Amino acid sequence: MLNNFWEKLSQPFFALAPMEDVTDTVFREIVLSVADPVKLKLLFTEFTSVDGLCHPKGREAVIHRLLVNNSERELLNSGNIKLVVQIWGTDPEKFYSASRYISDHYDFDGIDINMGCPVAKIVKQGGCSALIGQNELVSDIIQATREGSGLPVSVKTRTGIKEHTTEQWVAFLLETGISAIILHARTQRMMSEKPAEWDQVKLAVDIRNQINPAIKLIGNGDVRNISHGLELMSETGADGAMVGRGIFADPWFFSSQVKDRRIDKNLDLLKSHIISFGNTWGNSKNFSLLKRFFKIYISGFDGAAAFRAQLMESLNTSEAVDLIEQFKSIDF
Ligand SMILES: Cc1cc2nc3c(=O)[nH]c(=O)nc-3n(C[C@H](O)[C@H](O)[C@H](O)COP(=O)(O)O)c2cc1C
Repeated sequence: MLNNFWEKLSQPFFALAPMEDVTDTVFREIVLSVADPVKLKLLFTEFTSVDGLCHPKGREAVIHRLLVNNSERELLNSGNIKLVVQIWGTDPEKFYSASRYISDHYDFDGIDINMGCPVAKIVKQGGCSALIGQNELVSDIIQATREGSGLPVSVKTRTGIKEHTTEQWVAFLLETGISAIILHARTQRMMSEKPAEWDQVKLAVDIRNQINPAIKLIGNGDVRNISHGLELMSETGADGAMVGRGIFADPWFFSSQVKDRRIDKNLDLLKSHIISFGNTWGNSKNFSLLKRFFKIYISGFDGAAAFRAQLMESLNTSEAVDLIEQFKSIDF
């Protein structure tokens, strides 16, 4: 296989998790702009439906998920950081066509198949975490994706449906020709509420070591900060740790700078985020999508809650930027 970046990743490494309506090109660039490329090695797009990608009208609705701004690309290239596109669906033929389309039109380093999302409306269609244990179908999907894309394929999944079935599930996946498994240490039933059980990651690593040590194993679930992630990787033997909601607690999660919580730095980061959102999406995405981010940047100082409440009332990007400028002019 051409250029399999997974083989060259030096461990331990960190990855930013795919998160719908969060990890678009705009937010990924913000994270990259303050990340240490020695730590953050890998980012993922939001999950994108192969049904959508295979349908001319449907494609229009989902294609924004694949956008990579030039400014993000520059940061990726300068840090030698990889970007993986994540897809989901149920039909191997559509996986073939969608991954072919992706490799013909885009420049992703790898392709990941979502076999972890527990959301009822998707599980009902048989996609994502509903694929756990559907070995024949999963083999066909993986093969179709490899053939269609020519890219290294990974699978992001959970430990089981109702109970952990890590041993059988991981042992099966290791024989399918994928390059990496990202194991979210919860079952489908656990959603994301119950604590992640990293002993399941350790179990998966043990199986990987027996069956195929060349395949990368990345653990996911409740990583609180870099030292916590390093501890989990050293305890379990995982090659990498994937961080999802941890980024909501700290946009500087992957930074090496001594923790610098200066208010104005976070305000500048938020301002860049809002401006880039406006430049990238115009009116095609709802401004209210930005509101979930305000707490990331504005917390932990006197007056944060009041300022956040004020910002929540803003109706568009220029109003929000004006409010930030006004707030910055107050002398702290
Ligand atoms: C808002 C949100 C959106 C998510 N969207 C996706 C997605 O598109 N694809 C995916 O594989 N997982 C998705 N996830 C799951 C995360 O990638 C990750 O597996 C999960 O949050 C557990 O990691 P954490 O405990 O570090 O947050 C999403 C999670 C959140 C909170």
